[in-house]
Amino acid sequence: MCGIVGYLGERPAASTILDGLRALEYRGYDSAGLAVLTPDGLEVRRCAGRISDLAPLVEDAHLTGSIGVGHTRWATHGAVTDDNAHPHADASGRLVIVHNGMTDNVDELRAELLADGHQFSSETDTEVIAHLIGVERDRGAELPDALGRALQRLVGAHSVAVLAADEPDMLAAGRIGAAGGLVVGHNGCGAILASDLPAVVRHTRKVQIVQAGEVVSLRRRAAEFRRLDNRPVTRGLITVPWDPVAAAKAGHRHFMHKEIHEQPETLAETIRPRVTLDPPELRLDDFRLPTDARQIDRAVIVASGTSHIAGMVGARYLRELARLPAATEIASEFAYAPGPLTRRTLVIAVSQSGETADVLVAVQRAHAAGAPVAALVNTVGSELTRMADAVLPLHAGPEVSVAATKTFTSELGAFYLLACQLAQQRGACTQAQFERRIAAIAHAPIAVARALDVEPQVEELARRFHRCKNFLFLGRGLGHPVALEGALKLKEISYIHAEGFAAGELKHGPIALIDPDMPVVAVALDDDDVRAKTLNAVAQIRSRDGRVILVASDADDLRGDLAEHVVRVPRTAPLIAPLVGVVPLQLFAYHMAVRLGLDVDQPRNLAKSVTVE
Ligand code: G6P
Repeated sequence: MCGIVGYLGERPAASTILDGLRALEYRGYDSAGLAVLTPDGLEVRRCAGRISDLAPLVEDAHLTGSIGVGHTRWATHGAVTDDNAHPHADASGRLVIVHNGMTDNVDELRAELLADGHQFSSETDTEVIAHLIGVERDRGAELPDALGRALQRLVGAHSVAVLAADEPDMLAAGRIGAAGGLVVGHNGCGAILASDLPAVVRHTRKVQIVQAGEVVSLRRRAAEFRRLDNRPVTRGLITVPWDPVAAAKAGHRHFMHKEIHEQPETLAETIRPRVTLDPPELRLDDFRLPTDARQIDRAVIVASGTSHIAGMVGARYLRELARLPAATEIASEFAYAPGPLTRRTLVIAVSQSGETADVLVAVQRAHAAGAPVAALVNTVGSELTRMADAVLPLHAGPEVSVAATKTFTSELGAFYLLACQLAQQRGACTQAQFERRIAAIAHAPIAVARALDVEPQVEELARRFHRCKNFLFLGRGLGHPVALEGALKLKEISYIHAEGFAAGELKHGPIALIDPDMPVVAVALDDDDVRAKTLNAVAQIRSRDGRVILVASDADDLRGDLAEHVVRVPRTAPLIAPLVGVVPLQLFAYHMAVRLGLDVDQPRNLAKSVTVE
């Protein structure tokens, strides 16, 4: 889950690589480095810290050269130190590599090299890989072949890019395992290589994907793809539909703020091209279910983090709208205990990045058991889009802030559409029900836009509450996943301990925690029965001197003293409520982190796409 960049072309390599690294910093920001081939040989600059710490080192060095590699690190093997920052060199120092991945057999490989007299200056597995490539070069292998041979010795999932002093016109890069994307692109001035699209789309929208088990020889005007066993591969071009300027902050102080505010448009992008109201139709043109909808007897949703929470809502949509038994599993748990799966189990993988290793391994397990796999994914061209049998793209555009916001609402929108389509195909709804449902989702972007109006009130709440050390979030029915997502957002970016749970469970344990220092955020947006039960839980908290921030609909008639603070969002159909209910919680987490002076877009220890298990 580190970020890799490589460049060769007419522009100065150092500044071009720095730009690319900035676009990938969401993948990790523990340390950064780059290497450029200059007239004096390979020059490496690297340091613990962020790209902003690396930039002055690079600028002061005035590195002249038009070929290089760079890296932004999320630490796995080895602490966050200058010595462990990439690039790493082989024993002779004539080649350097940057690496994304984790070597499960590193101890064995290091011991073998130590026995042959190698010495290491870092604790990383990356340096071991660099030495392995150097050994293959010493045996006479061409650079791409040496990389391919070294990759075959690694256990785990890896992407590696190599720059060699004696190959001034070529970068070699390769991948093994299910995680760690690698994309290459060319424009008139040169070639770019990167772990992910944001670093490439600023050069070109026409890209080629390096697949697992391949090595690419990248030259200024062309890329040559080979399998690890040297068989040549023909690789087509993909056109990426993103507008590079969409990734800029557009006047917002943080990407997270921009992305929260984009939700009316991004949700509309997910929904509107697929839904018409006159005549009432739903067309998922780009999505072909990998099996007959009537043959499916169960759906299992696999995902991680925020996408997993979206999957909880999605399971409810599938059960309620399509009458399909559905459950959500944490991808990393499912991967090693998938339970019984058959050809009639539809596995639905959900991921913003499409690169989360836990999700990719879960998909491998599903395929091994013969289950068809559909994917809801934001990043076109990601590994998940290639692995799944059918892909429903979210079309939410690039999400830069590490904390997911707009992709959560788009995942909900996509699930809703999928459930409506399955309901039709399975004969599980009447035409009148279908029309009511698609009208409800078509209006959701407007309700989300109105929910954003709560921002001044939420900002004031953050001012009052930002010194609290703990929070509880509770909700029932569809309010439960919303509460979980509110707690996760707060933890992720403000480092405040927050726990989300089902409101009905309050009385079975968490109520013991209630006191004036444990504020509770309660989400009560579901249909009447469930809302009344959630409000009972709120009353139980208030009668024990607990402080409550209640998220309720603007149509609810609430007793004046029920909660200390009430945040009102627009009333919607009950199944749409999570889409509006999550907005104040996203804003709350955001303003708490801003109040605390924290790095909202790049919270400590996290990374946006986690490509290790
Ligand atoms: C990381 C991110 C989370 C995200 C999770 C799943 O842990 O920090 O914000 O929810 O990965 O990511 P995905 O790209 O699969 O949705």
